[in-house]
Amino acid sequence: MKITNIGDKKQASFYVATELYKQMIHKKESKLGLATGGTMIEMYEALVSLLEKNQPDVSQVETFNLDEYIGLDAEHPASYHQYMNNILFDQYKGFDSAKCHLPNGVADNPEVEANRYEALLDEKGPMDLQILGIGQNGHIGFNEPGTAFDSVTHRVDLTDSTIEANSRYFDDKADVPKQAISMGLRSIMKAKRIILLAFGEHKKEAITQLASGNITTDVPATILHLHPNVEVYVDDAAMPD
Ligand code: F6R
Repeated sequence: MKITNIGDKKQASFYVATELYKQMIHKKESKLGLATGGTMIEMYEALVSLLEKNQPDVSQVETFNLDEYIGLDAEHPASYHQYMNNILFDQYKGFDSAKCHLPNGVADNPEVEANRYEALLDEKGPMDLQILGIGQNGHIGFNEPGTAFDSVTHRVDLTDSTIEANSRYFDDKADVPKQAISMGLRSIMKAKRIILLAFGEHKKEAITQLASGNITTDVPATILHLHPNVEVYVDDAAMPD
C-alpha cells in the first residue's frame, strides 16, 4: 500500500475522478464501488465536469454504494440515495438508475436486505474500482472498530463518534440514525483495485494508524494491507508526520 500526498484536496479529488472516468471509458460495463461523505464531494464534482465535457456513454456502468442508514428512505434529504442522486446521478443523466445500487434503508427486515445486497455483489462483482473514505476511528464503509475481517454486508450499530461526525448533515443530533446497512470488510476486499481518500487534520490519526502497518480490527482500514492493489491519497493535513 502506498500513501501519497499528491497536493491539496482539489488535486487529489481530480486525480481520483480521472481514475473513475478512465475506468468507465476503458470498460463500458465497469462495476464501481462508491462512497459518500464530505471527502467525496469535490471528487464527484470533478467527475461530473469530466462527464459533461466528454459525454461518454455510461449506460452500462453499474454502481454499488457502500452503505445506507437504516430508517431513511430514498427521498430523505440525508439519505445516501439522495446524496448520490444530488451529486452524480441527477447531474450527468447517462446513468441507468436500474444499475445504480444502494442498500434499502427502509427494508422490512434489514438482515434480509443485507443478505440480498451481498448476493447482488456476488452476482455482479467484483468491483473494478472501489472508492473509500475513512472515518476518524478508522472505519471503512460503516465497518466500525471491532468488525470482523471476514464480515459481509450486515446491519451495523454506529458508534457515538460516527454519529457525532455525521450529525452535521442533520438538523438535530437526535435525528442521526443509530444503525446502517454496510458492505462488510470481506465484501470490500473483493474489489480488483481500491482507492482511499482522506483529507484534513481530523483524519491524520486514522491515516497514521494505517501507515503504521499494524493490521488490527481496532482500525478496520488496516485490513487494506492484505489487498494487493490499494492506493491511498491524502492532503497535507492528513499526511502522517
Ligand atoms: C460513506 C462511508 C464512510 C465515509 C467516512 C468518512 O459511504 O462509507 O466510511 O467514507 O465516514 O466520511 P467523511 O468523508 O464525511 O469524513
